[in-house]
Amino acid sequence: MDVSINNLTKKFGNVTAVNNFSLEIKSGEFVAFLGPSGCGKTTTLLTVAGIYKPNSGSIVFGGKDVTFAQPKDRNIGMVFQSYALYPHMSVYENIVFSMKLKKASEEDKKKAAQEVADLLGIGHLLERKPGELSGGQQQRVALGRALVKKPQLLLFDEPLSNLDARLRISMRTEIKRIQKELGITCIYVTHDQIEAMTMADKVAVLKDGLLQTFQPPIELHTHPCTEFIGSFVGNPPMNLFNSKVVEKDGDIFTILPDKSMMKVNKIVDPKVYNKELRVGIRPEDIEIVDKGTADSSTGIVSLFEPLGRDNLVNVRCGNKTIQLLSSPKAGIEIGDTINFKAVDTQWQFFDLESGKSLLWHTK
Ligand SMILES: Nc1ncnc2c1ncn2[C@@H]1O[C@H](COP(=O)(O)OP(=O)(O)OP(=O)(O)O)[C@@H](O)[C@H]1O
Ligand SMILES: [Mg+2]
Repeated sequence: MDVSINNLTKKFGNVTAVNNFSLEIKSGEFVAFLGPSGCGKTTTLLTVAGIYKPNSGSIVFGGKDVTFAQPKDRNIGMVFQSYALYPHMSVYENIVFSMKLKKASEEDKKKAAQEVADLLGIGHLLERKPGELSGGQQQRVALGRALVKKPQLLLFDEPLSNLDARLRISMRTEIKRIQKELGITCIYVTHDQIEAMTMADKVAVLKDGLLQTFQPPIELHTHPCTEFIGSFVGNPPMNLFNSKVVEKDGDIFTILPDKSMMKVNKIVDPKVYNKELRVGIRPEDIEIVDKGTADSSTGIVSLFEPLGRDNLVNVRCGNKTIQLLSSPKAGIEIGDTINFKAVDTQWQFFDLESGKSLLWHTK
């Protein structure tokens, strides 16, 4: 089922939680809402669910305007961070609760419960009470309860936050597998960028109730259309500093904090040459090079953090600290003077005022 969210605004008193938000979600698409705490993710989701009524705007499911329809009439399934299972009921009773309200026959309930329980691998737990289950199993029951209604839209609000790191990774894969298997359109709220990047077909980034962008995860990383997205997505975060882009002998360069110049292999609007702007480069796109390499910069290692496969190295360059990743085998020590160079295709440039990307491909 397609979902259109059109100019949605939701206010609480004088707080505008969702501000003129529009999005087109295609049938069967997995969309993540990503953004910092308080940016309006839950409010948008609950408005789509019909739990909140918007102040203005509309919501259309499969061509039908549902803006003011009751949640129960929207054919949606919801899964939240708190599993909200009924503790005195068995897993089976929890799963078929909505069917019971609709007075489904015992036979239909049994068949439907068995189907979702098998899909979720909890078929052997149907007689247990929620208190006798692990967190991951409880979350599967909550998912089963949502799926048993055969919803056309699944809404998730941080469903994995209460699980430990390892279980989160396996549930991530599980949810994605089930969603693809059933082909259900899905909106998944998270503030965890890894979750959004690994699960979603497209990511909607929100900030202060405003939609910042709606892009596939990989583009979000390589072609951020604003400085906020560049800095919010990616770990370790993008290096950002004020500088300029200059042209020399037909090539484009940017100036590093130590006044050295590095080549830029990107199409930048010529109108911004020689003007102060915000320069971004990701730590993984900077490499340590031999002394004397052309277009490289020099800095002194001030700190490093072992991340496992790589070391995150802080390099003091001019009056700024630049972060880069290096192999632990490189044997770098604090106080070392090193030369480094960025991959020339990975530079980002943003307008100082608006924060918008100045690269032509993102327009
Ligand atoms: N019921 C409410 N009454 C008043 N203000 C609210 C209400 N619900 C949310 N808000 C406000 O609306 C804004 C958006 O809140 P929302 O819960 O949608 O954020 P969120 O992105 O889901 O954050 P989090 O990641 O912390 O869950 C916040 O400023 C919040 O304080
Ligand atoms: Mg929330």
